[in-house]
Amino acid sequence: MKQGFDQDFLFGGAICSSQAEGAYKEGGKGLDTQDLRYFDPAWTKDERKLIPNRRLNHPKLEAALQTDDTSHYPFRHGIDFYHRWESDLDLFQEMGLRIFRTSVCWARIYPHGDDEKPNEEGLKYYHDLFAGCQKRGIKVFVTMLHYNIPWHLVEKYGGWRSRETVKFYEKYARTLFARLGDTVDYWLPFNEFNAGKFNPYNGVCILDDDADNTQDTIFQCLHHQFIANALAVKACHEMLPGKMIGGMIARFTSYPATCKPEDVMQSITDEQYSNWFYLDVMARGKYPSYMERFFDHSGVTIKMEPGDKELIAENTVDFVSFSYYFSQVSTTQNGWEKTEGNLIMSNKNPYLKSSEWGWQMDPIGLRVTLNQVYDRYQLPVFVAENGLGAIDHVEADGSIHDSYRIEYLREHIKQMKEAVKDGVELLGYTMWGFIDVVSCGSMEMSKRYGVIYVDQDDAGNGTLERSRKDSFYWYQKCIASNGEDLA
Ligand code: BG6
Repeated sequence: MKQGFDQDFLFGGAICSSQAEGAYKEGGKGLDTQDLRYFDPAWTKDERKLIPNRRLNHPKLEAALQTDDTSHYPFRHGIDFYHRWESDLDLFQEMGLRIFRTSVCWARIYPHGDDEKPNEEGLKYYHDLFAGCQKRGIKVFVTMLHYNIPWHLVEKYGGWRSRETVKFYEKYARTLFARLGDTVDYWLPFNEFNAGKFNPYNGVCILDDDADNTQDTIFQCLHHQFIANALAVKACHEMLPGKMIGGMIARFTSYPATCKPEDVMQSITDEQYSNWFYLDVMARGKYPSYMERFFDHSGVTIKMEPGDKELIAENTVDFVSFSYYFSQVSTTQNGWEKTEGNLIMSNKNPYLKSSEWGWQMDPIGLRVTLNQVYDRYQLPVFVAENGLGAIDHVEADGSIHDSYRIEYLREHIKQMKEAVKDGVELLGYTMWGFIDVVSCGSMEMSKRYGVIYVDQDDAGNGTLERSRKDSFYWYQKCIASNGEDLA
């Protein structure tokens, strides 16, 4: 039995291009879907939570396409990681980071998505960034698509509705493997595959008021993404033998609200429809039988082309990964109290405390999840995201005492260690928003996850200077002791 983490356990940190880079029109980058999301810094806390405010519709889209404003479009400025990556990597190295997860912005490589040749400036940017990690002894974990796809592909082809997008994605994937393959250790074709279902704009480019915003369209787009994923796995295995490529979901771990059989059954189906379906296709290589019932019931028909089933079956992923922020409960009972959650509203668990954003914190749920995922797939597992979004206060002397974040990380890492002792083959842990970034859901800067603070407010004002929070020193000690010193 293992007593703790392996010596080469990959303690790391994660961010993504759209929430960090900024420079939305520099280096030959094309406009992408995240550049268009509108945020009003004057919105109250409650207004920031409203789904219509978080999502894009046609009137907001038309306005976005007419302006170069950045203060209402936070993904256009991010935290200026595009220009500051070298000094940021120095800080990552000082902290002892072993692996860095970020995403490549598709529109920096193919500005329109359907360009004949890639943009050399974009390729050079990522090559320098990843080589910069290597130089500092930091491994690289790349998400190939973290929600931001070239806007032109949506405008001209309908985004993931179209099989054409699959073709362009494959070309993009092959370009990444050919030109960046020497600098990357782990590949992930898609961030949170189930996002298409829970957040159709982020996941599959469907606007709130699109006439075809239906289950049928969503599952057709998801099918195209499954094909794109299989083509990326195939290309990676052909072009980069020995490198690992994985599948990822946002894991909504669900407990039955009571031991009433109806609640237990509800929990099983919630897990199947919200979580397992996506990993089952990518890791087991076929559409699971329980989805036939779901598709029949919801009147969904998926158009497949000859060869699709074989392609999915023959190109399964090498590891499975997930983001884990909270757990939820499943019940058939009406009127169960609700709370917020990542991408979704969920049922409240009376035994758990929630973050300021209503996400129910459940460290043991991470051990539960790791056991479930490993039992099901028997593949190496990566915790690709986990962390606490909170409001930080900067003291007069510049220090930031984020004991709440240390507590959150400590309890989750303890449970990960228990899962390793349970026998789970765990590759690594990339805590989310390792350096403060723009929040994905609520688009605000005030919801911070980092152990590194970034001086910027919700309207994009600030010096952008970086500073170390108390959690920086805590995580540094945790990594140096290989997860043994968690005090
Ligand atoms: C995950 C996303 O769903 O959750 C990240 O992959 C995101 O992009 C993270 O930032 C936390 O969500 P939020 O809305 O608090 O930023």
